[in-house]
Amino acid sequence: MTSPELLPDHRLELTTVVANNTMNRERGLTGVNGYARELGLDPVAHLLARSAAPRWLDLCSGEGLALRQAAGRLPDAARLTGVDLVGPMMRAPLPPTVELITASVTTWTPGPPYDLITCVHGLHYVGDRLGVLTRAAGRLRPGGLLVAHLDPASIRWADGGPAGRFVLAALRDQGFAYNARHHRLTLTGPRTVSLPLRYIGADPAAGPNYTGQPAVAAHYDRET
Ligand SMILES: C[S@@+](CC[C@H](N)C(=O)[O-])C[C@H]1O[C@@H](n2cnc3c(N)ncnc32)[C@H](O)[C@@H]1O
Repeated sequence: MTSPELLPDHRLELTTVVANNTMNRERGLTGVNGYARELGLDPVAHLLARSAAPRWLDLCSGEGLALRQAAGRLPDAARLTGVDLVGPMMRAPLPPTVELITASVTTWTPGPPYDLITCVHGLHYVGDRLGVLTRAAGRLRPGGLLVAHLDPASIRWADGGPAGRFVLAALRDQGFAYNARHHRLTLTGPRTVSLPLRYIGADPAAGPNYTGQPAVAAHYDRET
């Protein structure tokens, strides 16, 4: 097996696969392609059932359209935060309960605990995606939910060999559930997650993943 050239995340984030302007960054809250369907839950119903001042963190939020649409159905005390490498292009003013932060989820530190943390088809482009999941797991309110799309086929060992099965077993061991049909990882938190893996870099030339879009493979070593 030939070892691919692996990039650190700050270089990965400059590549055309990650800075790809053909990505769908405008999913709304509902509808065929919307967040509710992709996540397998209605974010607004989940938030309303949990708190009078619910907090939702959407990682890799794109244009933040789902957050904008959710804001109109949530109380003024709600706080909806989106984080994306690329700032929003939409000019419409943000509802007061929504903030969109331009940053990489690999370096941005999540703030207060959240009732819901989501990442809809974002981790496919993130280098240390297991690091992102580990941090997010610890930033949930009691009973809060983390839901993220994850493609195990794009998690590899240093030599390019498939690490997906090992990683899924390690994630399950830490309390995550994985729905293979929908490529969806879920966790009820908060949890202090510890994975026996060390991130070593990303391959932006990995090719298309199950979504049909070119994606990034994340490479790890086993921690001994
Ligand atoms: C396929 S889009 C999905 C956007 C949004 N979740 C949606 O469904 O409309 C993937 C998003 O991940 C963002 N992204 C990629 N790498 C990122 C990183 N390291 N940190 C934050 N956002 C990232 C991209 O800028 C893009 O907006």
